[in-house]
Amino acid sequence: MTLTSPWNGFLDRIHTAKAHDELATIEHELFGRKAGEMTVALKNLASFSDEERKKKGQELNLIKHTLETAFAERTRSLSSESLKTLASSDTLDPSLDLPEKERGHLHLIHEYIRRSEEVFGRMGFEVAAGPEVETEHYNFNMLNIPESHPARDNQDTFWASSKEKKVLRTHTSPVQIRFMEEHKPPFRMICAGKVYRKDSDATHSPMFHQIEGLMIGEDVSLANMKSVMESAISELIAADTEFRWRTGYFPFVEPGMEMDVRWRGDESKSREGKWLEIVGCGMVHPNVLKNCGIDTKKYQGFAFGFGVERMLMIRHQIPDLRLFYENDLRFLRQF
Ligand code: DAH
Repeated sequence: MTLTSPWNGFLDRIHTAKAHDELATIEHELFGRKAGEMTVALKNLASFSDEERKKKGQELNLIKHTLETAFAERTRSLSSESLKTLASSDTLDPSLDLPEKERGHLHLIHEYIRRSEEVFGRMGFEVAAGPEVETEHYNFNMLNIPESHPARDNQDTFWASSKEKKVLRTHTSPVQIRFMEEHKPPFRMICAGKVYRKDSDATHSPMFHQIEGLMIGEDVSLANMKSVMESAISELIAADTEFRWRTGYFPFVEPGMEMDVRWRGDESKSREGKWLEIVGCGMVHPNVLKNCGIDTKKYQGFAFGFGVERMLMIRHQIPDLRLFYENDLRFLRQF
């Protein structure tokens, strides 16, 4: 139907409205409860005579219906238009390169322990483990460490419970005992893990890592030990590593030895000097074997304990052991 002014103007505005809120404004102008044009026009019918009211009423209802239909249509078409633009603007572009995600990696100490397990694994050593909270029995007594040994002292050892005689293990050597109690020779085992001592400077930390090793058999000799140690350092530090052997005292070996490795690169950067002790080792003391029920007439063998951080310090020329634990990403990302 063609409408007369002002309704015609409203109809045009409805048809050309660009958005839902524009439609809502027009709707309010027309049908607002107090001042809407249509609302007022309908109210005004009351002032007409019966006959005129009937005629005008019919006319107005028709106009009202036309406007309402126009609103409904425009609302529908605006909605489908906005869906269409959404569909075209919101598509995925699978060819787009995403910023690369930063990937983490193992801390160099743990990466190195895995590498060591692999190197010793190739030499026939199996991997064992033991608790970090140890008893005095395993940490000291079974290893032939006398009651009076200074290592038992409060100054060196973290006692977890002096009543129950528990310590944070001061070395990985107690794992030798636990292993020997459960296995019959011949065997070869290594065990890597954390150890604790009251020590802190450029080459000592209250917590550090050791790799313990043990090889027992009928004719395992000191020469075998030296050859295992030397091939380990050539793989784990570098093929041209310079080292020297010294005798050393440890109550659980006889004879006992220590190996020092020469600092690689600029010696003025080494805090410790040009030689760094990296491993204690020796032929397992008969008392230790006996403690574990091993026949010392038939079996003998060697044991060793490497300092993991120290090997890494030499391998990568890291002057201060505390750098390992500061977790500065600029340091860790280099490895
Ligand atoms: N447990 C010793 C330490 O922490 C290192 C060590 C020396 C381990 C001689 C051994 C060994 O197995 O035979 O200082």
